[in-house]
Amino acid sequence: MCGIIGYVGSKEATPILLEGLKKLEYRGYDSSGVGVCSAKDGKIAIRKAQGKIRHLEELIKSHAIPHSTVGISHTRWATHGAPSHRNSHPHCNVKQTIAVVHNGIIENYQEIKQELQKKGIKFSSETDTEVIAHLVSQYFHGDLIKAVQKAIGRVRGAFAIGVISSATPNLLVAARVGSPLIIGIGKGENFIASDVPAILDKTKRVIYLKDGEMAALTANDVKIWKFDGKPVTPKIDTITFTVGSAQKEGYPHFMLKEIHEQPNVLAQMMKVRTKGNNVILDGIGLSDNQLKSIKNIYIVACGTAYHAGMVGKYVIEKLSGIPVTVDAASEFRYREPILQKGTLIVSVSQSGETADTLAAVRDARARGAKAITICNAVGSSLVRESDGVLYTHAGPEIGVASTKAYTAQIGMFYLFALKLGELRKKLSDAERQKILKELKHIPTLFKTILKDKDHVAQIAKKKFRFGCFLFLGRNVNYPSALEGALKLKEISYIPAEGYAAGEMKHGPIALIDEYRAVVCIAPQSDVYEKMISNIQEIRARKGKITAIATQGDTNIKKHADYVIYIPKTNPLLTPLLVALPLQLIAYYIAVNLGCDVDQPRNLAKSVTVE
Ligand code: AGP
Repeated sequence: MCGIIGYVGSKEATPILLEGLKKLEYRGYDSSGVGVCSAKDGKIAIRKAQGKIRHLEELIKSHAIPHSTVGISHTRWATHGAPSHRNSHPHCNVKQTIAVVHNGIIENYQEIKQELQKKGIKFSSETDTEVIAHLVSQYFHGDLIKAVQKAIGRVRGAFAIGVISSATPNLLVAARVGSPLIIGIGKGENFIASDVPAILDKTKRVIYLKDGEMAALTANDVKIWKFDGKPVTPKIDTITFTVGSAQKEGYPHFMLKEIHEQPNVLAQMMKVRTKGNNVILDGIGLSDNQLKSIKNIYIVACGTAYHAGMVGKYVIEKLSGIPVTVDAASEFRYREPILQKGTLIVSVSQSGETADTLAAVRDARARGAKAITICNAVGSSLVRESDGVLYTHAGPEIGVASTKAYTAQIGMFYLFALKLGELRKKLSDAERQKILKELKHIPTLFKTILKDKDHVAQIAKKKFRFGCFLFLGRNVNYPSALEGALKLKEISYIPAEGYAAGEMKHGPIALIDEYRAVVCIAPQSDVYEKMISNIQEIRARKGKITAIATQGDTNIKKHADYVIYIPKTNPLLTPLLVALPLQLIAYYIAVNLGCDVDQPRNLAKSVTVE
């Protein structure tokens, strides 16, 4: 989704803005732009370009931008109006004295636009954002803060905005509802940004602006108010992750780096979340008695987080006996789920800003349900709107394709399920301790899989020309099949389907011939024999099989063209292990195809609109 960075200080603004924009590239975008206060002609100087940020840099090289120490910039992910120069941000008032960057959607922009057009204002874009610039201009009589306050009082929807005016060239005004915005506190300089990585090399002191708050930034001061004008004393947080964690550190792509971070992420989680044989769920916001009296659970999430939730269902039901329903958040919010006393909502999200997941949680809480979130982004909207949080602390995930956040979410579900199983006495101490011990060993097994990544790279080299993939799994690895297919399609653009292997005969088998690549997830488990039968059925129809199997299973070699081995573990924990080869398959196929692995087309890292 769109990215914002704004600067006010004593340094040249444009290079800082461009640098910051590059660090927000992972969010996904199709055009970018910069606006700075220019002392020359009393106007805001604007440069915009379609496509990559380097196009904007080239433009600024050929059409120099005036010196300025205050400015705003933006990467746009098109919602209203095509990706084009005219629709790129910043957007200005007619005189080009006020400029706005915006992330989100203004729902009532049509009616405001008509009202402004009637007053003779000419619009120069198709965006919803432009109405903000004209509204601020209408209300501006020398006080930019007041003008922004009045303008945002008129708009409905979700927004994070940054506003500058050439009449107040030392001031940057920001506001948010729904879409994320942080303020970075520097020394003699301050920043606004959509996300921490944009400013991490400048400062680690940040304020997470809350919904319904606006801020005024000068070089040496930050003031915050609620939209009604009530002053707010901001809480300054210190970011604990390093600049290195937001950089590639020698890996060709963030995705590959993040795949390799998984052993550490899980090991850290086990260290922090367990004490001896006990699971510690600090932050969950529910007492043991409340956890014991849970009647049913709804897991709500989107995309990869939804697949993690599906694994969660299998695990919670098995280890605790509590019935679990998993819903795509976009479906949950528009149906009428039966919420009763004792219903718990568990949302899952890397960003904590996914619009549908947020809305699902809001609806459920408004109807009286308790909601906790399994979330990666500290201080995000989902965290603030839930009764409790289980942070995955996977560190910043920059690659659009989620990898380490996924295994961290699954890891947290095991811990949560073990705790529930213990409290509800579904598990004996011995069983619980055994699973926990095996779970703690997973980071070591992750390393074993990663050591063998060249083998996966070789298989990918043979497979990348297939026009269609099928991923099959059963039981707890059915969600793994869905995730394997999602990973492949989002970064390589190869059509891929994930299926429960038992569903093969009910349709998908019609797809199988010698041109179909099929990935069969077949670790040792109760359903292993059934998977082998499915594999034989595919083989009989000449499908090209890559199997993911347990180390030592030589039998499977007879049935598959290629085998990727994972180490032996408790079958219930295998979704963690199989995730890595599935991520690597997608990664190497996309690399072979020359795709933009970290920023796949049309995708955004954080989906902050519906
Ligand atoms: C994952 O690879 C995707 N890019 C996407 O499906 C993602 O998982 C989904 O948009 C949910 O995001 P969230 O975890 O930030 O809520």
